[in-house]
Amino acid sequence: SLPPRPDFGGIGFHGIEPNTLANGLVDDVRLPPGYRYEVLFAWGDPIGIVGLEPGQPEFKWDASNSAEEQALQSGAHHDGMWFFPFPGAQAHERGLLCVNHEYVDQGLLFPDGTANWSLEKIRKSQNAHGVSIVEVRKNPRTGKWSLTRPSPFARRLTGNSPMKISGPAAGHRLLRTTADPRGDTVLGTLNNCASGHTPWGTYLTCEENWNGYFGSRVAGFDDARSSDQKRYGLSATGFGYRWHEFDERFELTANPNEPHRFGYVVEIDPFNPRSTPKKRTALGRLKHENAEVVVSKDGRVVVYTGDDERFEYIYKFVSKRKFDPKHRSANMDLLDEGTLYVARFNADGTGEWLELSPKNPALAGWSLAEICIRTRQAADTVGATKMDRPEWIAVHPFSKAVYCTLTNNNRRGTGNNPGPDAANPRGPNTYGHIVRWNEAGGDPAATTFSWDVFALAGDPAVDPASNINGDLYNSPDGLWFDPAGRLWIQTDATTEASSYRPGGVNANIGTNQMLCADPLTGETRRFLTGPRGCEVTGVTVTPDGKTMFVNIQHPGEDWVGSPTEVSDWPDRNARPRSATIVITRENGGVIGGL
Ligand code: FEO
Ligand code: CA
Ligand code: CA
Ligand code: CA
Repeated sequence: SLPPRPDFGGIGFHGIEPNTLANGLVDDVRLPPGYRYEVLFAWGDPIGIVGLEPGQPEFKWDASNSAEEQALQSGAHHDGMWFFPFPGAQAHERGLLCVNHEYVDQGLLFPDGTANWSLEKIRKSQNAHGVSIVEVRKNPRTGKWSLTRPSPFARRLTGNSPMKISGPAAGHRLLRTTADPRGDTVLGTLNNCASGHTPWGTYLTCEENWNGYFGSRVAGFDDARSSDQKRYGLSATGFGYRWHEFDERFELTANPNEPHRFGYVVEIDPFNPRSTPKKRTALGRLKHENAEVVVSKDGRVVVYTGDDERFEYIYKFVSKRKFDPKHRSANMDLLDEGTLYVARFNADGTGEWLELSPKNPALAGWSLAEICIRTRQAADTVGATKMDRPEWIAVHPFSKAVYCTLTNNNRRGTGNNPGPDAANPRGPNTYGHIVRWNEAGGDPAATTFSWDVFALAGDPAVDPASNINGDLYNSPDGLWFDPAGRLWIQTDATTEASSYRPGGVNANIGTNQMLCADPLTGETRRFLTGPRGCEVTGVTVTPDGKTMFVNIQHPGEDWVGSPTEVSDWPDRNARPRSATIVITRENGGVIGGL
């Protein structure tokens, strides 16, 4: 049946060509005719913290800013974000932009890269992680957006900012450390990938590949790992960040409980710069991609979140108490109490939400706190469906249909790994797909659903099963419905098998990009193509839909890599920098609209 589409009006632009060698491969952002972009702020730009002497620390082009300066500047690797408008008439031209800084390229972060490794370098790396909260404003005369510097709202949260642990796991013995014997206060948030926002105006930042920051100097560590450490991918070398070499907090043998304090959705009140962020353990500990929040038919808060790793799961949290639209303060701890579920996709197109609580007989003997810490193992126990790397989840604004990107899975059907199933039909899955479901009765709190595949991504010339209705893309990741119901898709093809390389599987797809799809017909049009080696991630608009913010993450990720990846965007003849761009239309219209 057709969902109501009061404001849809179609996609108001023609899809643009892919950014490929055949098309001249530009190292820049390209948009449809009539659209333009500007860089708003990039890694290292000062964010406008009040009261600095002798003033805002400007970015140094040789990357010689200190760790202390980095904590006053934009972090690296911009990812999920959200625009929180100021109230009233200024809503379309003034707001707070919360931006995630997912990770860093330590080779680019210092003048001499990772040589002469030290605690000072580790602190700078930690300070380039986390979240930036910046005040942004449109000049009513020129139409140009810029950061308000200084602003009393400007704030950096880093890998060392104090945060509260709240919800069922707070204080559990697995969260206690020598530095925090109560197990309820942690320093920092890490690998802030995608994001979410609540109806009461708070920002949700999601901790994804936090395991990669831990390591151990102890010989034979990997062979002696516990099953919990293996399940979450902790290892002696981590992802090579080397923090544990001089920061004992990240040494796994010395501080075995520290990793239990990461892997959460963190709630931040951007309008209260003095508030302490809270890690919401009720939403489970995993490698969270984003957190998509909707309200159920009876007023409870529902949060969808995916665990982005090969063969991991899709989760849903339903709050116990109801959202109160009239009293903001009454909602501030709604995410601490409720029921967590994990999804099973049956081959017949039906699905179930399996309860992760001690009430589920399969979890008899588990405490709720333990389920919130060892969430992956609890989900294994109840028989959830192993998916092809769940990334962003987006809910259609009218029908409440839920869409989830499954970015790719190069191990599906290989070796001893699980083979294809109905919801993950390709193995290996080089190109990824988008699955969607309708909750029973259209109620986000329902415990059963029906599902189908929205699109199998990729180039049918390489994989004939690919079935995009329109412009081709690969490795869908960012996903968002605009208020009119257009589905925006952002891509992240970064593995060796799926990056844009001459003659590779993406010869006709090109660099990472952003597309707009009609959820009803599936028609998909390419809106933006990115510079070389970048990922396109994070999208938000002003309430009038006329200004769009998008993040260009890690341009030139392979700094000394193939010619299709080397980049000097956006500054030219300088090291590449992740940045937030502002997209507007020359005719002042709604982005994506007619
Ligand atoms: Fe950080 Fe799964 O993307
Ligand atoms: Ca992502
Ligand atoms: Ca990704
Ligand atoms: Ca990324």
